[in-house]
Amino acid sequence: MYSDKVIDHFTNPRNVGEIENASGVGTVGNAKCGDIMRIYLDIDDNGVIQDCKFKTFGCGAAVATSSMATELVKGKTIQEALEITNKAVMEALDGLPPVKVHCSLLAEEAIHAALWDYAEKNGIKIEGLEKPKSDIGEEEEEEEY
Ligand code: FES
Repeated sequence: MYSDKVIDHFTNPRNVGEIENASGVGTVGNAKCGDIMRIYLDIDDNGVIQDCKFKTFGCGAAVATSSMATELVKGKTIQEALEITNKAVMEALDGLPPVKVHCSLLAEEAIHAALWDYAEKNGIKIEGLEKPKSDIGEEEEEEEY
């Protein structure tokens, strides 16, 4: 049911952890399953993502998609990272079962939420970026755990 890549990224997730003083942090949740994903971005002065880490409290597909998403955004510019859709993450994982597609949306939204946080912290506007709907912010997130 799962591709080898999904199983690989689930059993051996890349970039797990947090980044201290991250340039941007995004936390999103899926109201239906209750799963939570947080992505940390380290963005340099040229707007290039130098590092990316994640913490996911969720299903295997959510862990695998977070892991792959962090691999995909590393080294990208903000604009390039914005173009990484859940579809691109799924393709990089050789697909997900249809019932698990929503899990990959969490990864796309977590990246957007982290970029949104970065933009807010720096008082800039990122072309084409909208505030993620499932951004659950800090306070609410405490309750979720
Ligand atoms: Fe919730 Fe996968 S079931 S993210």
